[in-house]
Amino acid sequence: MDIVNTVAEVRQKIKAARFAAKFIGLVPTMGALHAGHGSLITRAVTECDTVVVSIFVNPTQFGPGEDLDRYPRTLETDAKYCEKLGASLIFAPSPEAMYPQPQLAWVDVETLPEGLCGASRPGHFRGVTTVCAKLFNIVQPDFAYFGQKDAQQAVLIQRMVRDLNLPLEIRLCPIVREKDGLALSSRNRYLSQSERKKAVCLFQSLQRCRQLVEGGQRDVSVLRKAMAESFALPEVSIEYIEIVDPETLQEQSEIQDRSLVAVAARVGATRLIDNIEIDLSNLQEKV
Ligand code: PAJ
Repeated sequence: MDIVNTVAEVRQKIKAARFAAKFIGLVPTMGALHAGHGSLITRAVTECDTVVVSIFVNPTQFGPGEDLDRYPRTLETDAKYCEKLGASLIFAPSPEAMYPQPQLAWVDVETLPEGLCGASRPGHFRGVTTVCAKLFNIVQPDFAYFGQKDAQQAVLIQRMVRDLNLPLEIRLCPIVREKDGLALSSRNRYLSQSERKKAVCLFQSLQRCRQLVEGGQRDVSVLRKAMAESFALPEVSIEYIEIVDPETLQEQSEIQDRSLVAVAARVGATRLIDNIEIDLSNLQEKV
């Protein structure tokens, strides 16, 4: 497995694969890899002949005062992990290699970034869609793998691909969780021991919602109120509890056939997100 740092090198490396008409898979990441990323890489390795993992802490998706500078950077360990999982190539550019000049062209998806995480992170999704469009154009994969963990991001990326006729397919992978239900995240390593214990409240609130829906509750205001009780802990503050349509991200007032239940909260200083999808036609299996 090779590690390359420039756009020219990554293009050179995958040229041979492309000429051999092999399937090329891309797993975009910001590094500090964990088993959640691992599940994407493993699926890509199963489905593709050449798998490129990009590791790039993308400055344009961080707002002022966010954790760009202290975001964990663990390239050496990440590289070993990718190699073990069978990835073919790591693309780990510097910010200068990805943004050699000030970026004047951006990819903006309308409407979808307005709620959920976008509401408190202005410009975040413009940074995400732009860097993903750049990565798609650099690697030109057949398939790109994303996690359901970042549900709003996944919806936006799929919409970008559809609306701009980008020649690749997005493949979504389920959320990988710790034993107690906490969704794996690179940011979990910021948590102190006591914060780590409290962090399970996000998952618990989603479980509570699922149980109530299974019991017949459909009223979103009742569900949100019940979910909020899970966050009543010291050092924990809710950023949002939302129940939305999984494709349009429009708020629902009643649970519909399909609903995305999404939460964001701060545990200490660390911002965490989680979600589940509820599919009424398949309630036992889906939630
Ligand atoms: P990052 O947070 O590193 O996540 C990379 C990919 O891993 C995303 O698609 C994310 O949804 C997925 N992922 C993270 N935790 C997961 C978990 N517990 N289970 C399953 N999948 C999980 O998301 C980004 O980076 C960036 O925004 C990026 C798309 C790379 C653009 O910079």
